[in-house]
Formats: sequence, structure tokens, C-alpha cells
Amino acid sequence: MTGALRLGVNVDHVATVRNARGGAVPDPLRAALLAIAAGADGITAHLREDRRHIRDDDMRRLKEALSVPLNFEMAATDEMVATAIATRPHAACLVPEKRSERTTEGGLDVIGGHDHLAKVTAELAGVGVRVSLFIEPTVQALQAARSIGAPVVELHTGAWCEALAHGETRAEREFERLRLAAIEAEAQGIECHAGHGLDYATARTIAALPQLRELNIGHFLIGEAIFVGLSEAILQMRAAMEAGRAGVRP
Ligand code: PXP
Repeated sequence: MTGALRLGVNVDHVATVRNARGGAVPDPLRAALLAIAAGADGITAHLREDRRHIRDDDMRRLKEALSVPLNFEMAATDEMVATAIATRPHAACLVPEKRSERTTEGGLDVIGGHDHLAKVTAELAGVGVRVSLFIEPTVQALQAARSIGAPVVELHTGAWCEALAHGETRAEREFERLRLAAIEAEAQGIECHAGHGLDYATARTIAALPQLRELNIGHFLIGEAIFVGLSEAILQMRAAMEAGRAGVRP
């Protein structure tokens, strides 16, 4: 059965614009509240080690003000684990920030980093934070995620989205990897999310995979907001996801 597909809106790049000038505007919290009013099911923010967009105070304010789940994207470092434990978001998505933490394609190195990721996952779970691992869409990565003990994975859609610019065959191959990984996640009892590089068209296509429960989308929506406004961009994204879910042809 095809269940609901949630939309998580990533507000990092509102902070990118704010930080370009210094000061307090545009405020990622204001964007998050607007996104929720327009239909976002959750808000994602990535506190990077270099604080290039979201800052510690943004995370604190988001957690305090939001009525929907906050997904704290983070590297699996001691500093970020301490911040997540203090912030207590609904969920934490562990992502690679350094080359050594990623597989060749870009997701977490869940095989090389297995023991460390298992320790971090257990620490966060211990304070009630639901951990998701941002992984490449492969059976090996899903098996490692299961043995790490993560209840959720987010499939990295970047390679597929990039492949669309390089011809149909390559894109079809990448999409097939995502399709099979979503099936494998369900077989392993792991909740499956997806994200990175999605736009209206790709969100619509991937929404048709019935195992997916959540898409996390940032850059495209914040970019679209320049032209149509954030509420309208979110409404259009939800419509694209619903059409894809319902199997309506473009
Ligand atoms: N999911 C994860 C784990 C990410 O790291 C990112 C990028 O920050 C996204 C989703 C959103 O990607 P985009 O900004 O390209 O929509």
C-alpha cells in the first residue's frame, strides 16, 4: 500500500543569504514558519562545522518555535552530538562533511565508519532522537545501516539528479538504483526518505516509489521562492509530489 509522503523543507539557504551580508535577515525561522503554513510537514536545518549557513542560535530558535518535527542534519562529530543532545530535535540525519566520511558517490561511508556511526546512533537514540543515515542507494549501504541500528535512511538522490543532464540511459540506471534501494529498505524494516538536488520534476518522479515516506528539499525551493514566493513554491512542490504519488502522468 502507498502511504503518505511527507515534505521536509530545508531552510539552510535562507541563512546563506543572510550570512552573505551579516545581520539578521532573511531569518531562517521566519522561512520555516511560512513553509509550515504552506504545507511543509517538517523543517530540516544543517548545522555545519564551519557554520557557513545555519548557526547554533538558529537551531535553538527553530527547536523552540516549531510545531512540526525538526530534522537536525549533522556530521557525526563529538561537537555535533553534544549540540543535538542539548537541542533534542525530533530527528537527526547523519551526513558526511569530510571526504574521508563519504563513499565515492557522496553518501556516508557506512562500512568504513560503521562502529563510530553505531555509537553515535545509540547515543542519540538514548535521548529520544530518531536517527537517519544519509546513504548511497545500494544494498550494501542498507545492510550496514541496519547493522548500525538506524531506524531511518535517507537515500542520496544527487547522482540521479545530476545524471538527468547527461542523457536518459545514465539517469535510468541511477533511478533504478534508487528504486531497488527503497525496496531493500522496506525489506530490512527501515523507514526510507530521499533527498538532494530534487526539483518539481524529479520530486514528482520519485514520489511514485511507494516505499518512500519523506522527501527533504531545500536549494530548489529557496531558489524558486525568489521568483514565486516560498508559499507558492511549496504548494507547487506538494502538488508535484501528490501527482507523482497518485501515478498521474506529467
Ligand atoms: N538531504 C540531505 C541529507 C542533505 O544534506 C541535503 C542538502 O543539504 C538535502 C537533503 C537537500 O538538498 P537540496 O538543498 O539540494 O534540496
